[in-house]
Amino acid sequence: MMAKQETILIVDDEQTIRRLLKQMLSNEGYHCQEAGNAEEALEKLRNNAISLVLLDIKMPGKSGIELLPEIKTGYSDTAVIMATAVTDISVAIKCLKHGADDYICKPFNLDEVYLVVQRALEKRHLHLKIREYQQHLEETVEEQTGEIRRLFLGAIEALVFALEAKDRYTGGHSRRVTSIALALGEELVLSPDDMEDLRWGSLLHDVGKIAVDPLIQNKPGKLTQEEYEHIMIHAHVGAGIVQPVVNEKVVKMIEHHHDRYDGRGLHQATAGSDIPLAARILAVADSFDAMTSDRPYRTAMSREEALDEIKRCVTTQFDPVVADAFLKIMSRKSESPDLFKSGT
Ligand SMILES: [Fe+2]
Repeated sequence: MMAKQETILIVDDEQTIRRLLKQMLSNEGYHCQEAGNAEEALEKLRNNAISLVLLDIKMPGKSGIELLPEIKTGYSDTAVIMATAVTDISVAIKCLKHGADDYICKPFNLDEVYLVVQRALEKRHLHLKIREYQQHLEETVEEQTGEIRRLFLGAIEALVFALEAKDRYTGGHSRRVTSIALALGEELVLSPDDMEDLRWGSLLHDVGKIAVDPLIQNKPGKLTQEEYEHIMIHAHVGAGIVQPVVNEKVVKMIEHHHDRYDGRGLHQATAGSDIPLAARILAVADSFDAMTSDRPYRTAMSREEALDEIKRCVTTQFDPVVADAFLKIMSRKSESPDLFKSGT
């Protein structure tokens, strides 16, 4: 049984016809509204939730044919049934092509009118249900995809922290780098989406170290060229690990985080502003934290020494705009030397 609380708008210039239809439809349990012309009909549509319009084709002023497209444009979920004289059926059929759901013929056979109305309302009801179901389905798929992505990223993040915790030199590195990178992102007024990418790229930037030989990683002395090349594969490996669950920007950020601004890094094909901005940000954040942490081959530099080193490497290793933003942040925060040491 259809929900009978639905409202039907009867549009006809003849009051006797409106009354006749209203009486029959009210007896069947529908709410009815009446309109004697197109303007009144539009006003009723504006102020009421109308499920179906019974629309007379021939009316003085704006005709039903002219009103039909306005209803279909403004109220696409409202069903429309054209009412026409038997002699004008071809016009009613044309209206079907322009969005009308059905037509009824004058003089009316009330049983037939009821059936046509019921059928149109059922069709509308079904259409709304299908749309609601589709929307629900899309939302569910989107939610589940997001949840799977979050879980996977969380797992990789846990892996990074576990890797770092095992190594006495790098404990907390990714969290601190993320804090610095986000402060830089704010300083450079990145969009919320770019900030989110920056956060994930920073947290996961060293996940590729899983492929690096710990003996080489922790070698106390100077690295040979071969060993250095081996360590540097981590950027490429890391990009490959996160690629299935992050967007292209995060992948590129990780892949390019050791790129030098002057393009003279190992096997480097990009330079300057062709290096993704997020990777240029990450390069400064990563280098600062690395310099101010102990390493197997040297003790930590002081904050001032590290800042001097960044200044010295502007335009060669670092993007001047990013380096400048970093120096500004650091001079503002000069009273808290361990600003980034607490992590995120
Ligand atoms: Fe790295």
